[in-house]
Amino acid sequence: RTWASPTTALHQEPIRKVGVIGGGAMGAGIGQLAACKGYDVVIKEIDEGAAQAARKRVVSLVDKLAKHRNLSERDREAILDRVHVTTSDEPMDGADLVVEAVVERAEVKDAVFAGLDKRLAGDAILASNTSSLSIERMADATQRADKVAGLHFFNPVHKMELVEVVRAKQTSDETIARLVSFVRALGKTPIVTADAPGFLVNRVLFPYLGEAVVMVSEGHDVHRIDKQVRAFGMPMGPLELLDQVGIDVAYHVAKSLDSVLVGVSPVVDQLKLMVNENMLGKKTDCGFYQYKKGRRDGAA
Ligand code: NAI
Repeated sequence: RTWASPTTALHQEPIRKVGVIGGGAMGAGIGQLAACKGYDVVIKEIDEGAAQAARKRVVSLVDKLAKHRNLSERDREAILDRVHVTTSDEPMDGADLVVEAVVERAEVKDAVFAGLDKRLAGDAILASNTSSLSIERMADATQRADKVAGLHFFNPVHKMELVEVVRAKQTSDETIARLVSFVRALGKTPIVTADAPGFLVNRVLFPYLGEAVVMVSEGHDVHRIDKQVRAFGMPMGPLELLDQVGIDVAYHVAKSLDSVLVGVSPVVDQLKLMVNENMLGKKTDCGFYQYKKGRRDGAA
């Protein structure tokens, strides 16, 4: 049920302009990637302070890419010129696809979807980067449920190869086909999954991450767990990965998996304690580790 063949043979309107709602860790990464691949990008943030932070994130990602690929100043500028960060709705007009990447709260996402539905042309696709919420519910907040789907990028966007294209009950074949083509045009690998808790990747990944969380609450050493799992061959230990993802995001994912995974409740409880203490990982400089200016400083 999770796998469905990408129906790219259908006639597809090309995607030219991409909107992104929310320019945080994920939204800035998605915007930067799309601009690098030649799309016009508009990122909408909630206020001027957040917009400035989003701009900074995009510039920093483009700078890293420019250094890594030895891009000329002209190419670097051309990428940045394609990204417009704003706090108003108008620049979003004319977008063929809008990817929502705001906080993981259902009522906030519903409001974003309802607003976009009223504003955008009838054939525009609305996608959500949610890790844990129902796409079907977001589709129901609009009058274009057939053009609503999940587009689940992983963190960090520029490094992670896979993107889940999430098909809700109402999503049309054409919408899935357009999104699959878009993901391929970004140079990533799409997989089509059902709108089920954890989709595919988090359902498989979470038992592993959760077990590391349980081990910490049993008194095992954070450094040691990560170090030994890295020695096993993982690029990153489970606890450093959770700090990078964000403990708040991980908490929502764990909660959504409660109905399908056995033994996830202690993980939900432990992550909730951390969220209540604002130990959200790298973004608040404290999670399983402590950070100073983005660098790890020791176990929390
Ligand atoms: P974040 O907290 O870094 O960024 C969220 C951004 O949305 C903030 O900059 C905030 O100002 C903005 N925002 C909030 N409400 C808004 C609104 N109404 N309009 C415009 N902007 C608004 O969050 P992050 O980590 O980027 O996550 C975003 C989404 O991506 C969530 O749904 C999360 O579950 C999902 N996700 C997160 C991953 C991760 O590793 N952090 C991985 C995959 C998906």
